[in-house]
Formats: sequence, C-alpha cells, structure tokens
Amino acid sequence: MTTSKPPLYTALSPALLHLYDVNHAIVVIIDVLRATSTIATALYNGAKCVIPVDCVAKCIELGRQIDGITAGERDGMIAEGLQHGNSPFEYSKEFVNGKTLVLTTTNGTKLLHMALDRGADRIITGSFPNLSAVCHYLTSQNQPVVLGCAAWKDRINLEDLLFCGAVIHQVKRQFSINCDSSQIAETVYLDAKKDLFEFIKGKNASHYHRLEGFGLEKDIRYCLTTDVADVLPVYENGKLIVI
Ligand code: MLT
Repeated sequence: MTTSKPPLYTALSPALLHLYDVNHAIVVIIDVLRATSTIATALYNGAKCVIPVDCVAKCIELGRQIDGITAGERDGMIAEGLQHGNSPFEYSKEFVNGKTLVLTTTNGTKLLHMALDRGADRIITGSFPNLSAVCHYLTSQNQPVVLGCAAWKDRINLEDLLFCGAVIHQVKRQFSINCDSSQIAETVYLDAKKDLFEFIKGKNASHYHRLEGFGLEKDIRYCLTTDVADVLPVYENGKLIVI
C-alpha cells in the first residue's frame, strides 16, 4: 500500500500568499533578517512569549497594558515610541528571561497577520537559528506545508529564499513537491550553503545592503547561523510560545 505524501509549497512573497491554501497547512513564517531570527532568540533565551502585532500604535498600547517590552522596527531602524529594536543581540537571557515581548516589524509580523487573516490556524516561525526545530516539526506532522517568506515590501529576497531551500533540502523526502519556487529555493541554497554570508554579500542582497549600511553585519552573520536558538515558536492564542 502506498501512502501519499503531503504537499509543500513556497510563497516567495506576501503578495503571492493568496495563491496557497493556508487553511489546511502548517504555515512557516520566515523573515531571516531579522524578525524570525529575533523571535527564536528571545524565546530561546527564556522570554515568556512574543506577541506579534502589525502596527506600532498597537505595540505601544499593548506593551503598556501588559507591562511588556515594546520592540520592533520600521525600515530596519527602531521605530519611534518603542523601547527596543529588532536585533537578536538585544534579547539576551539576562534581559529577556521571563518577560513578554510585544513585537512589530516591517515585513515579518505583517506576514504573520496576513496569514491569520487568510484563515491559517497552524503557524510557526522559522529562521536559520532554529532550522532543525522547524524541520523536525514539519517531518513529524505529516501535514501540508506552506513556507511563507516575509521578503521586503512584497519584493522577493535572497535570505528568506535560502532558508526555504535549507528546509526543503532536509525535509523533501517526506513531501510531495510540485512547486517551482521550492525547486528554485533548494537550487540556490545548494549553491550558497558553503558560506551563506559570503553568498548574500557577493550578491549584494538588498536587505544585506540595508542592514550593512546601519553597521549591523554582526546581526546578519548571526541570523545566517544554523541552530543557535533551536526552539520552535508556535502561534497560540495571539502569542508565539515554545512548545
Ligand atoms: C522585517 O520584519 O522586515 C525585518 O525583520 C526588518 C529588520 O531587519 O529588522
């Protein structure tokens, strides 16, 4: 008897998300530079939860109500009125342990809310710092998967595509992949995997270029490092928590 494998699709931009059925899939929200890397890091370092919100005003209001840390960025820089930015290095164990982070970012938290609005009910977040946790979860569930890239203002970016490729490379035997975006992602990842940082630097990737201009090379290197914050952030009742 043959058992059919669940499908896996890659949405390379939020503008393409509507093409995929997110209702019956595990949706992986991916924003390598830097939202989902920061989420994994804060939770790995003991944050009670991360509450993703889609605008700065809500972030400030909710942070006040629950006495949470308000954090996030717009266009890569700390947004006015928030206490902290979107660098994983801001969320050390000493600082974040036991605390709630209310986070809003240009693309990552926005995509998560788009997926919710489209009816997704199983959402996790993925980044190189928690690559193994994501792959183990996906292979253990036997469910359809949509890898959703936050990209940059709907424009495809290289680092999210590379992460999709890394996931696909690890999990593909357990999925049916009839999706050219997924094939492209794996092909580019195999070309880049020897040194992800040098690869995106060599291509002058757009968000690499932006963050590098802010002196954030350390963030970029960290966000391209595998399994340094290997937890699985799962969205439940309005919060990202570790299960
Ligand atoms: C985003 O959500 O667009 C990013 O995380 C931006 C950033 O690098 O902070």
